[in-house]
Amino acid sequence: MQTVNSIESLRFAVEDLRRSGSVALVTTMGALHDGHMALMRAARNHATHVVASIFVNPMQFGKGEDLAAYPRPLAADQARLEAEGVALLWAPDVATMYPPGFATRVCVDGVSEGLCGAARPGHFDGVASVVCKLFNQVRPDVALFGEKDWQQLAVIRRMARDLDLTLPLVENIVGVPIVREADGLAMSSRNAYLSGEQRRGAGTLNVAMLAAIARIEGGADVPTALAELTARLIAAGFASVDYASLADADSLALFDKAPQRPARLLVAARIGTTRLIDNMPVGPKSGEPA
Ligand code: PAF
Repeated sequence: MQTVNSIESLRFAVEDLRRSGSVALVTTMGALHDGHMALMRAARNHATHVVASIFVNPMQFGKGEDLAAYPRPLAADQARLEAEGVALLWAPDVATMYPPGFATRVCVDGVSEGLCGAARPGHFDGVASVVCKLFNQVRPDVALFGEKDWQQLAVIRRMARDLDLTLPLVENIVGVPIVREADGLAMSSRNAYLSGEQRRGAGTLNVAMLAAIARIEGGADVPTALAELTARLIAAGFASVDYASLADADSLALFDKAPQRPARLLVAARIGTTRLIDNMPVGPKSGEPA
């Protein structure tokens, strides 16, 4: 696996790969875990070559979010990518990504504003801006993102459509399903912060979400089903529930009635000081945004 740090060497290396096939991009901020590796493996089924990026993006960190403390185990990440058959690693530094005078920001209205966006103002502008740049830099045929951060995926899809990013990329922003532990808890590097008791309680998130979906699909009142879900999480030891919302899978507009369109149940909840997020499909033809 080759690692490149300048735009010029990236373009050269990607052109070289293109001579023998298509290119899939998996964007990351490094500190790679099994969820990232599932994305790399999925990417291999979508294109001949996989290009990974590692860039800890300052633009998506808010006040009070510790950018300096974000882990940067580059050598270990490179070894994992190499073992997974990734062809090329794009690892620019901040000055390459945001050279002096850089002044452009991509804001995706609506879809980036509620849910996690409400608690992290500007976060999704930072994500959309850097992903737009990464798409333009690598010009992949397909790009893969984890469905665990459904809002991020919805923001990126909206941005790609709105900015007429090159076809076939717009049609090829692929969501990779959440990988779950045996008790249904979505895999996350944050799960490692949970004590034994918190970890047992955290399994309730999956059970309570499935129960809420069954109630909603069975015709129960949506606000009541969401309130029951919240109460069940608190009873299981969650400290707080930031949101438990039923939203349009594409626009993330909130529903307070059983949806007639593909929808997602999205939850963010804290157990101890650890914030967990999860989402699941609800309603007719549930699944990916259009
Ligand atoms: O999900 C992430 O790791 C980041 O938000 C992304 C998409 C790589 C943009 O920095």
